[in-house]
Parts: sequence; C-alpha cells; structure tokens
Amino acid sequence: MHFRDLPEVTFDFFAKIEIEEYDWLHFEGRNLEHLPGMLNIAKTFLSNQPISLEIEKPRDGIEELIPLANLVIFSHHYAQAKGFNDGHALLSEIQKTTSHSNLVCTWGNQGVWYASPNGEVLHTPAEVINPVVDTLGAGDTFNGGLIHYLIEGFSLSESVNQANKLAAQKCRQHGLDKLLEVKQTDKPLANMKQLSNAKTLIVNSGSQSVLLIKHEESVKAYLNNCPHQNVPLNEAYKIDVNPFEKTMKCSVHDAFFNIEDGVCIEGPCWNEALATVDIRIDDKGDIFLGS
Ligand code: FES
Repeated sequence: MHFRDLPEVTFDFFAKIEIEEYDWLHFEGRNLEHLPGMLNIAKTFLSNQPISLEIEKPRDGIEELIPLANLVIFSHHYAQAKGFNDGHALLSEIQKTTSHSNLVCTWGNQGVWYASPNGEVLHTPAEVINPVVDTLGAGDTFNGGLIHYLIEGFSLSESVNQANKLAAQKCRQHGLDKLLEVKQTDKPLANMKQLSNAKTLIVNSGSQSVLLIKHEESVKAYLNNCPHQNVPLNEAYKIDVNPFEKTMKCSVHDAFFNIEDGVCIEGPCWNEALATVDIRIDDKGDIFLGS
C-alpha cells in the first residue's frame, strides 16, 4: 500500500490470470493505457463476479469505463475537480449516463453519498473521530470493507455504513494491525445488569472466552482458561461461586480462585492466576473490551 515504485499490472500480465477464480475484481482508476483492455476482458469473461472501479482523479477517458463496473467509488478529489460541491451532485449527474451500477462517493468528514442502480442518492454522515491518529490507508480500508460487506450479501446502504465505521476505526489507530479485533471492542461483551456477585457470566469475544463477575462495586474480567490444564473453568460443569469467601471454583479439578485478583488459593495450580482482561464500562453499563 502506498508504495510508489510498485509496477502497474499490464494488460499482458492480466490476460494470463484465471480471473474466474476470484470472487470480485477491483480496479484502481489509473494506468489508462492498460486499464480499458483489462476491464473489457473482465466484463466479457465474468458472468457472476462483480467488478468495481475506484476513480480518485480525473484522467483522460476514465468516464468511458464507468459503465463497465458494477460498483464505482469516486473520491471527493475527483468530484471537486469536476466542479461538484458534494457527492449528491456528482452521483446525480453520473446517474444520467450510468443506470446499472452502484455508485459511491466518499467525502472525508462530510461522509459518503451512494446510490443503487436507478435509486435515490442517499447520504451517510462521517463517524466522529476524536482524536484522528493516522489516516493513511483509510480510503483503501473503506473500499475493502465495502466490497467485503457486499460479497457477504449486505445491502449497499448497510455495506456503506459498515465500511464507514471500519475506515473511521482505521483513523483512530496507527497502521492496520488488529483493525478487525479492535472493531470487536465496539460491541459490548455484556451489560452490568446481567452480572451478579454470586454467579459468573461467560461471554465470547472473537476466539476468546471471557469470565465476568461483579466484585463489590466493580467488575472483574478474566480469560476463562484454568492455568492448571488450559481448559475453560466451566469445562466439566458450571463455575461455583462462593460470595462469602469471594472465590470461584474450576469445575475440572476444583481449583479455587480469588474473585478479586484471580489468584488460585487452593488446588493444583496454587498461586498461579487467571489472566486478567482489560475492560471498560460506559455510562449505560455496557461492558467493552479494552481499557
Ligand atoms: S483444569 Fe482447572 S483445576 Fe484442573
């Protein structure tokens, strides 16, 4: 990404690729010497796989390629260079000549405009990002997210909204590492109302099983993994909680753990501790991963 010396794909190279094996073909709107030929091959030989085209800047002849794509993503740089003040104006104009493509126009902090074939031009506002940490790759994150959600069968509107959230999340962090994991933190693990001092709540977050329990007025969160044999504490049966002793018992070999700090105070993994999980709780009582 953003590697300026990466050679462009040539028509000859592209013609040798078994494009039928791919779920979706996405083209960047540059390399106009070779792009029309590649798009024409794709349009001619693919019957089921969608084709998308991103148009970032005006280039001679690029408008002729718009009808060849099922999804066209315009940047606000292109729209402004063409004299449009917002995505609505641009997409309404494009619709006059292109009736069968999904159209999207991204506009930074003004949000995204989009239209299904022959449909009304709709708008979704930008996500609030405070602070903005790193925007490099946000556009590609949006495009990748949009294509992913469309392949998954979401509507254009849902896909734009999800891709918008993903791109915003990208702007809140450096690089792309764990972008999808971080997104998991947008989803609450549970709500305070579900917790008690006398019972554990086991929830799944991605591939992790997390144990939640109320301790006095706070919430304790541990990985649901007994240090004795690396198995869930509720592997054999439910986790017994003693609210008076403030302990919880692994159902496999009866190790007792302090609720307060997760340390084993009796049993085969004495003095070892459950791994703590960072959580935060919002003002509605929703519990999220992350401190
Ligand atoms: S696996 Fe938990 S006590 Fe043995």
